[in-house]
Amino acid sequence: MKTVRTVRDLRAALSTQRSAGASVALVPTMGALHDGHLELARRARAENDVVVMSVFVNPAQFDDPADLAAYPREEAADAELAVGVGVDLLFAPPAEEVYPPGFSAWVQLDGPIVLSLEGAQRGVGHFRGVTTVVTKLLGMAAPHRAYFGAKDAQQARVVRALVADLNIDTEIVTVPTVREPDGLAMSSRNRRLDPAERARAVGLFAALRRAQQMTSGGERRAEVILVEAGRILAEHRIAPEYLALVDADTFLPAGTVGARSALLLVAAQIGDTRLIDNVRLEAPPSVR
Ligand code: PAJ
Repeated sequence: MKTVRTVRDLRAALSTQRSAGASVALVPTMGALHDGHLELARRARAENDVVVMSVFVNPAQFDDPADLAAYPREEAADAELAVGVGVDLLFAPPAEEVYPPGFSAWVQLDGPIVLSLEGAQRGVGHFRGVTTVVTKLLGMAAPHRAYFGAKDAQQARVVRALVADLNIDTEIVTVPTVREPDGLAMSSRNRRLDPAERARAVGLFAALRRAQQMTSGGERRAEVILVEAGRILAEHRIAPEYLALVDADTFLPAGTVGARSALLLVAAQIGDTRLIDNVRLEAPPSVR
């Protein structure tokens, strides 16, 4: 595996294989890799000839300077993990390579998919930072496919809208959430939890799983599902920033779990650490 730090070197490293017709995959990350990231890379490895992983802690998408400062950076360990899953090229640019002096081309979407939930909590700058950096990374690597995790469901939806609306010729692949054995969604932020917080954090998935059980048992009403999921959060002393059932396509509130796919999403501060999770809710065929 080769590590490159400039767009020029990235393009040079890809050019021969690209002109020979090889398919190129991009796995964008902010590093501090865990098995969730690695699952994206494994999937990319299985489906493409060349796998590029980017590791870039994107300052533009952080709404909180303390969160940016505390974000783990461990490139040597990341490189070893990336080699292990067959990444061919690690693209780890410094901030000036991505945002040189005079940079001004911000990419910003509009509508409920960026304004609701994470957009409302973190401010419009968050998704603007994500869509700007993802547009740039897609422009830099020009991949045939790019891989995103279902764990950040709203982000994955936003990225799909981005490539559709800007006619970017990259297929977006969404990979299911990878979880710890007790259900906690893997996240680079989990390592900041102390043991008591880690124990409470299982409440997030416990609430979501309960909602899945309810819908597979035939419950369709959002208000009933939300009350019960909220009760499980409270049992774990979690006061959510939001707990919402939305249409998976529009991100508008869903009143029922019906034929259209719905997402139940939660965000909560556990101590000083902000965690998010979500599950897809589907009514069993008999009640659709
Ligand atoms: P980061 O949080 O490092 O996540 C990189 C990718 O890994 C995202 O697509 C995310 O959804 C996926 N991922 C994280 N945890 C996962 C899990 N437990 N299971 C499956 N996939 C998981 O998301 C970002 O970085 C940034 O916003 C980025 C897209 C790189 C733009 O800066």
